[in-house]
Amino acid sequence: MVFWKSLFNGSESTSASKETLFSGDPLEVTGTTYAENGARICFSLTRELDLYELEELCDAVGWSRRPLRKVRKAMEHSFLVVSMWYIKGAKRRLIGFARATSDHAFNATIWDVVVHPDFQSQGLGKSLMKYTIDKLRSADISNITLFADPQVVDFYNRLGFLVDPEGIKGMFWYPD
Ligand SMILES: CC(C)(COP(=O)(O)OP(=O)(O)OC[C@H]1O[C@@H](n2cnc3c(N)ncnc32)[C@H](O)[C@@H]1OP(=O)(O)O)[C@@H](O)C(=O)NCCC(=O)NCCS
Repeated sequence: MVFWKSLFNGSESTSASKETLFSGDPLEVTGTTYAENGARICFSLTRELDLYELEELCDAVGWSRRPLRKVRKAMEHSFLVVSMWYIKGAKRRLIGFARATSDHAFNATIWDVVVHPDFQSQGLGKSLMKYTIDKLRSADISNITLFADPQVVDFYNRLGFLVDPEGIKGMFWYPD
């Protein structure tokens, strides 16, 4: 486990390559062989995710279920959808996810960051976030925001996110 961490920290590769991860669809992925058994972690930008697999991932961290038709719509209208895969031989497993909405010019907001509990605390959440930020930066987005649950504020702090910079407050409106 520590071995993965050492691979993903510091010298992690975010260089993209074209590879067929899903049948018939060459996708931009970043892959690292990290174990003697040949298993590796890849990132994909596909929106063609199996929503039931995504729901299982969200279930695994105890998130409330959302209507799949709305999840599909949210994915379709997201600026960026990042999935993280554990791949061994012909088998692949969805182990992480993040997406971002954007005005395509100045701002992006990251949502739904998740790593499967089996793969947490090994540096993969950090890699997923760094990959997502790299993609947003390469689209010339300079203002990246997110809403952190209280228990993960430190996780995002470590990645350079600031709470209330210059006193700016996130404000919410909810229907009655
Ligand atoms: C939050 C989450 C994505 C982190 O993923 P992860 O793979 O466990 O994180 P990493 O192993 O990459 O941790 C990176 C660093 O953040 C720290 N960290 C991880 N989770 C943390 C937490 N909850 N609080 C404080 N620090 C945390 C790690 O110690 C590590 O520090 P280091 O760089 O000094 O070694 C994952 O725990 C998760 O999916 N949680 C459930 C869903 C969730 O809460 N998502 C966020 C919604 S806002």
